[in-house]
Amino acid sequence: MLLLGLLTLQVLCIVDCYPNGAPTGACVDMMPQHAGVVPQPSPAPYTILTNTKRYLLGMPVTVTIIGPQYRGVLLEARRESFNDAYGTWRLPPPDTKFLECSGKPQGAITHANTNLKGNTTVYTWVPHDTVHPVYFMATVAQQRTIYWLNVRSNVLTSENLGGLKMATDASAGIAEEKPRLLFAICFLVLQILW
Ligand SMILES: *[C@@H]1O[C@H](CO)[C@@H](O)[C@H](O)[C@H]1NC(C)=O
Repeated sequence: MLLLGLLTLQVLCIVDCYPNGAPTGACVDMMPQHAGVVPQPSPAPYTILTNTKRYLLGMPVTVTIIGPQYRGVLLEARRESFNDAYGTWRLPPPDTKFLECSGKPQGAITHANTNLKGNTTVYTWVPHDTVHPVYFMATVAQQRTIYWLNVRSNVLTSENLGGLKMATDASAGIAEEKPRLLFAICFLVLQILW
């Protein structure tokens, strides 16, 4: 009974109760569980955009959450049929921080405070391997009582050795990613020649 009571009292909410970010316990369901506060039933006014449709080992993917400004966020990469956070995130943008998920200190991103984040907040994710198609999933909160669950990006397919052409196409993306992309391509070419 006591345990049940404690669990019931354990209130998680994404902005007010956790102004410094979602707790690790939110990694799987990405749900801010605050008594009487439910996710918005309406379609989320947010779209998760990525700089590429395909990902390559060693090539960071940039992710943005486009829509009205928001205060709270929990952002993870996911694989179909798994419910754990996948890959790792790089240097969190201003007002955000890493959240340990799936045993990885950089497994997810959450807000670091309730300052407004928006279209110009850019998150950077790095794949762990290239076995699975991946998508990005977020809980986005405008205020404690107004949040949307399950905001998803399109699915990104992974590229192994067959991905050279695609990778070259992707280089039309962000200029600063070119050195890393070139490195990844060299790595793949070396693997083929070896
Ligand atoms: C963010 O981008 C969306 C879509 O392009 C636009 O409608 C919205 O006004 C932008 N928000 C801000 C705060 O600039």
